[in-house]
Amino acid sequence: MSALTIVKYPNEILKKKALPVESFDESLRQLIQDMTETMIANDGVGLAAPQVGTSIRLFLAAPQGGKGTIHAFINPEIINHSGKQCGPEGCLSVPGVFGDVERAKSVTVRYVDSEGNDKEIKADGFLARIIQHENDHLNGEVFVDHLGFSERKDILDEYKRLQHISL
Ligand code: CO
Repeated sequence: MSALTIVKYPNEILKKKALPVESFDESLRQLIQDMTETMIANDGVGLAAPQVGTSIRLFLAAPQGGKGTIHAFINPEIINHSGKQCGPEGCLSVPGVFGDVERAKSVTVRYVDSEGNDKEIKADGFLARIIQHENDHLNGEVFVDHLGFSERKDILDEYKRLQHISL
């Protein structure tokens, strides 16, 4: 296993729609292993493949970080959602800043596992929030895109200051 480099906002790959996974082979399982190590090394609770420079429809969700179940979702589709929750989110690709994002309280996701089997899960609460955040990455969105104009600007100003970059 090896830890991968996390792509930082505003890298173009974070704005692309990721492509479906077509081969469920050893290299895919290796990528999942490497992403798992990378997520844990960075104290993350989720990580999407575009964040490590691979624009494919794959993400991890781990509500307890490295201490609990790590779910790998391939070619995920949120087929149902209900309720509302609002809470703070951050992102390993937008480090150092946080913002409150409204999400559905529960989601039902249809996906494929690393062996190529069709699966479906209903998730609530924090896992549901992670799934929605990571799924956004596969569609070229980051959490700041959900914020209102002025909050988005404030958070990105703070991010620029922390990263010593201009956007
Ligand atoms: Co993120």
